[in-house]
Amino acid sequence: MPSNSPQVDLSEQLLTKCISKAQSRLELWSELIRSVGVQRMAEVGVYRGDFAAAVLRGCEGLTRYYMIDPWRHLSDWNKPANHDDSVLSEFLEEAKAKTDFAAGKRVILRGKTTEVIDQIADGELDFAYIDADHTLKGIAIDLIRVFPKVRAGGLLGGDDFTRSVWEHKTSFEPTLVFPFAVYFAEAVGATIYALPYSQFCLQKTDGGQFAFIDLTGQYDQVGLRDQFTPERVLALTVGERFPRLMRVVRRTRELVFR
Ligand SMILES: C[S@@+](CC[C@H](N)C(=O)[O-])C[C@H]1O[C@@H](n2cnc3c(N)ncnc32)[C@H](O)[C@@H]1O
Repeated sequence: MPSNSPQVDLSEQLLTKCISKAQSRLELWSELIRSVGVQRMAEVGVYRGDFAAAVLRGCEGLTRYYMIDPWRHLSDWNKPANHDDSVLSEFLEEAKAKTDFAAGKRVILRGKTTEVIDQIADGELDFAYIDADHTLKGIAIDLIRVFPKVRAGGLLGGDDFTRSVWEHKTSFEPTLVFPFAVYFAEAVGATIYALPYSQFCLQKTDGGQFAFIDLTGQYDQVGLRDQFTPERVLALTVGERFPRLMRVVRRTRELVFR
């Protein structure tokens, strides 16, 4: 059943107002969710339930909150949060306990996005927050599968929109929420905003125009080449293996070029 939430246009002015009132990612999204009157939302990638608890507590207008997460070890996910089954099962219990106060609004969908997303009707959501598998594979699957669940005029946002793809050590897969989400926005004709705390947000509109509006001043270019040059990858790898040596090199450079 589609939501009957009010239609609010996402604008630079609205986002700037929300940013000015927020001291953290959780406050920023709570502010925005309240401002646009979100009633039905989904969080993809819930982990220990901190975001869900904060948003459910801070946004009384929410009527349904889908929590999507497999809470199990994934053999094809090379990221630090991929703990073993027993740890992730405990995190599910923790997420439940933290959101029990809103049990009547909460719908837990335990599984990967591809396994459970069709339990949500197309166009049902006012807002979807993507914070799951941040690799190229993960963000591509999540944006493509979650977008149809958002109603026209609804919002799609997410975490880990990091300027550098090397969010974690080079032994992990790179994080490609940025720039992939920008390419996705271009494909669907949406304006996408880069927000503080490595967040992004776009509004689903019919016949909209693509634009990338960076409200942080950090996203100078949307190409990838510079991040994968052999020199860059070598410097990162050496820095990870010999952190003290790299500190000395950095300090020497500062002294020489000061
Ligand atoms: C960074 S944590 C989420 C943090 C949470 N959103 C918060 O702010 O408190 C990432 C979560 O994504 C989940 N995840 C990984 N791959 C997934 C997939 N394919 N579908 C859904 N969730 C996935 C992991 O199990 C993990 O709990």
